[in-house]
Amino acid sequence: QAQEKIPEVEELLSKMTLEEKIGQLNLLTPGGGVATGSVVSEDVEAKIKAGNVGGVFGVSSPEKVRQAQEIAVKNSRLGIPLLIGSDIIHGYKTTYPIPLGLSSSWDMELIKSGAQMAAKEATADGINWNFSPMVDIARDPRWGRIAEGAGEDPYLGSQIAKAMVEGYQGEDLTLPYTMMATVKHMALYGAPEAGRDYNSVDMSRLKMFNEYLPPYQAAVDAGVGSVMTSFNDIDGVPASGNKWLLTDLLRKRWGFGGFVVSDYTSVNEMIAHGMGDIQDVSAMAINAGLDMDMVGEGFLTTLKKSVEEGTVSEEQITKAARRILEAKHKIGLLNDPYLYSDESRPARDILTDENRSLARKAATRSFVLLKKHNNTLPLSKNANIALVGPLANSKNNMLGTWAPTGNPQLSVPILDGLKNVAPDATIQYAKGANIADDSTFAKKVNVFGERIQISEESSETLMKEAMNLAKEADVIVAVVGEATEMSGEAASRTDIRIPESQKKLIRELAKTGKPVVLVLMSGRPLDISEEMDLPVSILQIWHPGVEAGNAVADVLFGEYNPSGKLTNSWPRSVGQIPIHYRMKTTGRPGPESGDFQKFKSNYLDSPNSALLPFGFGLSYTTFEYSNIKASSSELSSNGSIEVSATITNTGDYDGEEVVQLYIHDKVRNVTPPGKELKGFQKIMLKKGESKTVTFTITPEELKFYNSQLDHVFEPGEFEYFVRGTSDSEFDGSFTLKN
Ligand code: IFM
Repeated sequence: QAQEKIPEVEELLSKMTLEEKIGQLNLLTPGGGVATGSVVSEDVEAKIKAGNVGGVFGVSSPEKVRQAQEIAVKNSRLGIPLLIGSDIIHGYKTTYPIPLGLSSSWDMELIKSGAQMAAKEATADGINWNFSPMVDIARDPRWGRIAEGAGEDPYLGSQIAKAMVEGYQGEDLTLPYTMMATVKHMALYGAPEAGRDYNSVDMSRLKMFNEYLPPYQAAVDAGVGSVMTSFNDIDGVPASGNKWLLTDLLRKRWGFGGFVVSDYTSVNEMIAHGMGDIQDVSAMAINAGLDMDMVGEGFLTTLKKSVEEGTVSEEQITKAARRILEAKHKIGLLNDPYLYSDESRPARDILTDENRSLARKAATRSFVLLKKHNNTLPLSKNANIALVGPLANSKNNMLGTWAPTGNPQLSVPILDGLKNVAPDATIQYAKGANIADDSTFAKKVNVFGERIQISEESSETLMKEAMNLAKEADVIVAVVGEATEMSGEAASRTDIRIPESQKKLIRELAKTGKPVVLVLMSGRPLDISEEMDLPVSILQIWHPGVEAGNAVADVLFGEYNPSGKLTNSWPRSVGQIPIHYRMKTTGRPGPESGDFQKFKSNYLDSPNSALLPFGFGLSYTTFEYSNIKASSSELSSNGSIEVSATITNTGDYDGEEVVQLYIHDKVRNVTPPGKELKGFQKIMLKKGESKTVTFTITPEELKFYNSQLDHVFEPGEFEYFVRGTSDSEFDGSFTLKN
């Protein structure tokens, strides 16, 4: 992305004082958004007038954004407009499923359309710069922000990163309905020790390059405009001050030409990391290649002195200011500061019927059918249903984490959705249990609103009400799981089971002998070992967004046959964490049977395998794979081969299947993973229909980073596996020749 100098930018730079250049590196929030740290910006208007601010976040609506731009354009000496940032993580006002949910659709067009819609709505409300996509690979479901990413796999994560950047930024960033994207959090934020948010990360370079860095690089390759640093350290140096990361890797190796912004006060937090005082850490950050300081104002208050003292060069500051101005040029702001201040747009572009129907479609595609029991699903539209559970009639928990621009009151509760889609069904509702009975826990979760409401009635009374309804019903639908703020930022858990208050209800419902469907809501993979053993069907719905109830009803009543596949391995217990399908085989592999063997890599008290593997998800129909083969047994170093499979819909419903190609590199100079995803295709098959799916493999797809961190392929044998899950048997192999 190295770019030619832009004359307008150079002209501005030539007029700027050192203070004005430093001002461009300062990002503030006047307080309209979510404060995710203890520092809150003050005197923002005066600072803008003084030329001390390059961008703000937490300001929205064309009117307010126009006012903010007017302050900058009319009152600061050089009249440079502001970047207007925001966290638009899964939809702006039309909230669609949490990213982890949407990733389960494995549908890149859908993901891109969601990002396009979000960009159109957000820009209609004045925003021109988005703090998304978050592409942090995460393999530890204790970590609450697993909800915001695309799961555990670098290949899938890279495809999703690309789709989101393309969706937000479109083909032309100067158009008023596209916005600049930010890939975050560079880097490795999804691998904190013990799954505790903001904790240290310690990882080998080999693992970084092969498993954690690819999605950030994919976003850079897709032309992402900015990169946000992470809170953690890498090789002992906090990301916001890590020169290897921000300059050697990001700019020199990957050729990133945009600008780098810190996370909320992450520069100041380097003091707590032991890197010195505010003067030291600010100098360290700018010298490392960080361009913009979010909220902390360390750059604003120290960099001039650092230039005078010679610890930072003016050239370094000019470079950073140039990158900010170039971004403003890229999005058309230097040409027209009011490009995103069209007062007529919100009514036209936000929360339209079209947008809501995309959110509904996205939600249905994100659901994963985890267990089928006795063909309970789909439900009849005339059924007599007992709808129970603390999440069955809730508006507050439908949107999920990081949806501050969405309005929970506009969301469709599950109860309403069932009535909308099946007006002839008899639906009786009872809460049945609290999300959690522990009021101290509820208080922690309720920071941003009443996510957990503990009922006045005793848990026995709640349960009795539900059991009375259950007795009368043909089928029981229990909506259970996590409240919105039980996942997300600063919401790590050490126990990832459904809270005990709800487990008790589930156990009693299962004992009735009636058909039971658990509709499971969560922002993370859960440990549902107990529920998997009960005679129930289980549909995972994440936090589905504003159209939650309608989408759930579409799937429960068979309007849409679920097709989602997990993008994380779900563990049998927290003891298996971190867990993912790409594990190496080890020198003493655990026995395939899962039976314990001494002096092998296994547990005394648990199988090694996940409870539910990456790539897994059922359908109301069934799919059979046959004729899985490679077009040749040899692949030349400049050639390609095709691996194909025929998939037949052998069940009673039309349905979609995500066909997945995995390979295993049998011999290489660094230990290979047992399996690696290398391709996938989502296909629609009518009942009884067959289709052949073909994947083309070239040596490029077989590359990995070796111990010198070169991206290479090595000749030798490769096994391939084609199925609708990562947990599949060997299908065949081919040899890559020199
Ligand atoms: O974009 C976010 C980031 O993901 C977490 N800290 C705050 C930022 C701005 O809101």
